[in-house]
Order: sequence, then C-alpha cells, then structure tokens
Amino acid sequence: MRRTTLGESGPEVSAIGLGCMGMSALYGPRTDEQQSLRTIRRALDLGVDLIDTSASYGDGHNERLVAEAIRGRRGDVFLCTKFGIRRDGGAMRVDSSPQWARTSCDESLDRLDVAHLDVLYLHRRNPDIPIEDTVGAMAELVTAGKVRHLGLSEVSPQTLRRAHAVHPITVLQTEYSLFSREVEAEILPTCRELGITLVAYSPLGRALLTGQVTADTTFGGDDLRGGNPRFAGPNRAANLALVDRLRALAAELGVTPAQLALGWLLAQGAVPIPGTTRIRHLEDNVASTALPLTPEHLLRITELVPAAAVRGERLAASAARWVGA
Ligand SMILES: NC(=O)c1ccc[n+]([C@@H]2O[C@H](COP(=O)([O-])OP(=O)(O)OC[C@H]3O[C@@H](n4cnc5c(N)ncnc54)[C@H](OP(=O)(O)O)[C@@H]3O)[C@@H](O)[C@H]2O)c1
Repeated sequence: MRRTTLGESGPEVSAIGLGCMGMSALYGPRTDEQQSLRTIRRALDLGVDLIDTSASYGDGHNERLVAEAIRGRRGDVFLCTKFGIRRDGGAMRVDSSPQWARTSCDESLDRLDVAHLDVLYLHRRNPDIPIEDTVGAMAELVTAGKVRHLGLSEVSPQTLRRAHAVHPITVLQTEYSLFSREVEAEILPTCRELGITLVAYSPLGRALLTGQVTADTTFGGDDLRGGNPRFAGPNRAANLALVDRLRALAAELGVTPAQLALGWLLAQGAVPIPGTTRIRHLEDNVASTALPLTPEHLLRITELVPAAAVRGERLAASAARWVGA
C-alpha cells in the first residue's frame, strides 16, 4: 500500500482511507454488521490504516462497530473520529464548545475502546464559539495523551489559520471530488501554505461518480441523497451524462470510473476516504493507488468532467448552513 505523510512532517498513513459512515447512517438502512466488520478488517489486511468515523454516525453506532472490527489490532489502525454534531435523541445541533470537546472525546475513547485517538476532528464549527477556545480544549486533549493529532472539517480558510495559530492542525477534512472542486480556490492553497493535509470526503460524489447510480435509482427517507440537489431530477440527468464520459474513459483504460475519480484526487495531493460497505468496492478503490495515470490522462479527466458542468449544489440547504464557518 502506498503511504503518505499527514501534515508538515506528521504521521505516515495509507494513501487512501476507509470512510465508515455509510455502514451506520445516512445512506439507507444500516448495513449488516458482519458485512461491515469484514469490510473494515479487509481494509486493514490490505494496509489501509486510515479509518474514518465520527461520534455522530448512527449516534455512536459507527464507533462501536469500528471498535469491534479493530479489537486486537490497534497497532494496525490510524483511528480518526470527530466531535461537534450532537443529536441527543432530537434534532441535529452543532456544539463546538470546549466542554463538549472534552466530553465527546471521552465518550469516543470509551465507545472505540482505545486509550488514544490518532486524530480528533472538529466535525462542524458553531460560529458563536471562538475557534481559539475550541482548539485550545482540543490541544489540552493532546497534552493529556488522549489525542495525537488535531483536525477540522468544513471550516473557512480564516478559521483554519486562527486554529493553526493555537495548535498545529494536521488535517482538514472537507468535500473534494471531480464533482466538488470548490476547495481549489482558497482552501487547498491555504492548506499547502500551512502544511495541512486535505482529507477528501465524499470523494466519489456519494456514489454518483462510480456509475452505480442511474436515472431510476431511488433513495429512501433515511438516505440523505434523496434530498441532495445533485441527485434531483434534471440535475441528476446532467450529472449522469458527465459520469458516462468518465465511464467511457475508464473502459478505454481498463479501469473503473471510481478508480479514475480517486486516482485524480490522489494526483491533486489529497487523501481520499471513500466510503464503502463492500469488500468488492473497497478493493476496487484501493487499486486506484497503483494506477499509472499520466498528466495527459489527468487532463483528459478534467476536460471530460468540467467542474462548471456539474449541476446542483453539493449540499442540501439544511446541511450547507453549517459549512464554511
Ligand atoms: N467531515 C464530514 O463532514 C463528512 C461528510 C461526509 C462523509 N464523511 C466521511 O467521508 C467518507 C466518504 O464519504 P461518503 O461515504 O459520503 O461518499 P463517497 O465515498 O463519495 O461515496 C460512498 C458511496 O459510494 C459507493 N461506492 C464506494 N466505492 C464504490 C465503488 N468502487 N464502486 C461502486 N460504488 C462504490 C458506496 O456504496 P457501497 O457501500 O455499496 O460500496 C456509497 O454509496 C464517509 O464514510 C465519512 O467517513 C465526512
């Protein structure tokens, strides 16, 4: 497995990670637990050590699942979780308070059944709380030995700078894919300047870029893609036409569209964390780290899928209000 360095001179991890969110929440009914456990363990066997979860995925279910999968294999895992999105059995709210950083971290350590987290991310920022206070509390968790590295998710470049001035931020996690290239304007240059690695979430456009979604695919009420503008009626049709082009190039090169989408992201210097519940897809994604993509291939990919041709916002309005703070 290809390895990469996080941050300026930080830890070495696999060039690609595994996102575990969809095993527990947000993409339809919970996946069969045995299938999820097998998928996570297969990732570790393949040398994928960057495992991504969050306290909020399935209200703790996902962390407990990961705990079960990695039991006895803590040394094989670079374990990343997040705090800041609370449900408490009711509507979602964002809590980036120092107190919640401490409480949620302890709860995650408990659920994951580990002595330390490799990365603790702030999942979303509440703009009413100064980022300095939040990161100050996160830094104390590093001093206490509970957390090794700090990360933020979906914050503005200004917030990233202010946070980094309090304590080195190793990773910024945000949406980045052929379909979502907004980060290239300001976020990516800021990350490069500060020596922060960009971890790309939803690198497969929530499955759109894999070619698995068709005009007829339906999403239930427990699948957030049902309310995502990119998947809605005419937007979906326009976006699938772009995927068809990617699919044609993939066929020509003897690879899959998912591999091209991930190979392109790797070439941008990002660390993708594709989410999957299936070993077959995991293996497909892992193979993207060995693709011999030339500069000509990369150019063709961006010409075939121009960012400006993608239709629909990347997030529903209810989710968009919490990003970029
Ligand atoms: N920081 C944040 O706010 C944030 C937000 C969203 C996500 N994330 C993290 O990022 C991870 C990845 O994002 P994501 O899950 O939203 O989207 P994604 O990785 O772009 O897409 C996941 C979807 O693609 C399918 N898929 C994966 N590999 C495939 C392949 N090779 N061929 C065909 N289909 C494939 C999966 O279905 P199968 O299960 O059937 O493979 C799933 O439906 C999450 O798991 C989570 O850890 C973080």
